[in-house]
Amino acid sequence: MKPVRVGICGLGTVGSGTFNVLNRNAEAIAARTGRIITIGQVGARRDNPACDTSTTEVSRDIFEVARNPDIDIVVELIGGYDTAKDLILTAIEHGKHVVTANKALIAEHGNEIFQAAREKNVTVTYEAAVAGGIPIIKCLREGLAGNSINWLAGIINGTGNFILTEMGDKNRSFGDVLKEAQELGYAEADPTFDVEGIDACHKLTIMASIAFGIPLQFNKAYTEGISKVTPADIRYAEELGYRIKHLGIARHNGAGVELRVHPTLIPASQPLANINGVLNSVVVNADAVGEAMLVGPGAGAEPTASSVVADIMDIARTMEAPQTNPKPLGFDSDRLQDTPVLPIADTHSACYLRIHADDHPGVMHAITSILGKQGINIEAMTQKAVRESDGYADIVILTQKVQESLMDQALAKIEQLDDVQAPVTRIRVEAMA
Ligand code: HSE
Repeated sequence: MKPVRVGICGLGTVGSGTFNVLNRNAEAIAARTGRIITIGQVGARRDNPACDTSTTEVSRDIFEVARNPDIDIVVELIGGYDTAKDLILTAIEHGKHVVTANKALIAEHGNEIFQAAREKNVTVTYEAAVAGGIPIIKCLREGLAGNSINWLAGIINGTGNFILTEMGDKNRSFGDVLKEAQELGYAEADPTFDVEGIDACHKLTIMASIAFGIPLQFNKAYTEGISKVTPADIRYAEELGYRIKHLGIARHNGAGVELRVHPTLIPASQPLANINGVLNSVVVNADAVGEAMLVGPGAGAEPTASSVVADIMDIARTMEAPQTNPKPLGFDSDRLQDTPVLPIADTHSACYLRIHADDHPGVMHAITSILGKQGINIEAMTQKAVRESDGYADIVILTQKVQESLMDQALAKIEQLDDVQAPVTRIRVEAMA
C-alpha cells in the first residue's frame, strides 16, 4: 500500500512539534497504523530552526499544499480565522482530509467546515484543539460513547491556571504573573483570549457539542475571565476550604445545557482543585462510567503534536473508507439535538461574595437584609479587618444556591448602599457533584 502523504501548513510551535514527532516515531507510527506516513510537503512562510526540513519539499504558499494532488491529509497549524478557514475549505474542496489544532475556528465555524467535509466525504479531526496533549475528544466521542453525560468541567486554559496558581502560592499580582506567562510562551498571541476566558470557551463549546450532541454554539456560552480575582479572594477562599479555578462547565440540567466559563470556588479536597500551574484537566460525570478525569499538558510543541499525530493516524487507518471514521461531533449531523443552551440568568449557583465596605454600624445588617429579601440563604459570613491602605473592610459571604437573575438583582441593590464600594466581587461556587 502506498504511503499516506501529509502536508503540514504552519511551522510554528505545534507545526515543528508535529514535524519532529512524525519523523522521530515514523517506524512505530507505521507499525500501529498499518501504513507508512510521510511528510509530503510543508507550507510555511519561514523555516523553523527547531526542525530539519532539508529533505522535505517546502512551499512558501500554504494553499499550494491544500491543492497538491500528492497530499492526502492537510494539517492546518497556522491558527487564526480567515486564512485558516480558506485553507481548510480549499483542502476539503480538493478532496483532502484535514487535521487542525485550531480551537477558535472549530468552535466558531466548525458547523460549516463539517458540512463541507460531509459533502466531500472527507474527515476533519481536531483533537489538538482542546486541552493540547489530553485526548479528551476521543475520550468523549469514542471511549465514553455509550454514556449519557451529566456534566463535564475542566481547567482548559494553562495560562489562566498558571496565573491563579502563582497568585495564590506566591501572593503575586495578576499583571505581574501574566507578564511572566507571556514570556514563558504559555499565553495566546492576544492574552485577552486566555485571561478573559475566550480560549477556554472555544474549548468548552467543542466538548459540549460532543458530550450532548448539540451543534457548536460558541455565541451562546457565558464567559467571564479571571482579571478581577485578587490574591485576597484566593486567600479568603482557602480559609473557607476552597480553591479558585477558572473552569469551563457544561451541564445538562434537564431543561437545557449550561455552558459557562468563569472563576469558580471548588472544595479544596476535589482532585480538580489540585491541578496547578499550566496543567489542564477535564472531569466527565456520566451515567455509566461515573466520574472520569484526565490530566495533562494543555499546550506546548510536542504535547499538542501528540494529539495532531494521533488524528493523522486515525485518518490514515480509515482513509479508504472515511465514512467509517467517527463523526466530527460524535453524532450524524442530521441527528444533532436542538436542546437549548440556557442563558446564564436561568442557571443556579452558590456564590462567594466579597463586599468592600465602610466599617460602619449597620452595614452588615443592610447587606444581609437585601440578600434575605431576595430569598438568598447565607451559608457562611465573615468580616475581615479594616485594610490600613484604604480604611475599608472586606465582608465575605458564601451563599447557598440561587438563581443567577436573583443574585444580579441583590448585587445591584448592595452596590447602591452608600457604605459599599462597588462593584461587589461575585465568584460562583461548584460542589462538583
Ligand atoms: N493559550 C493556551 C493555554 C494554549 O494557555 O492553554 C493552548 O490552547
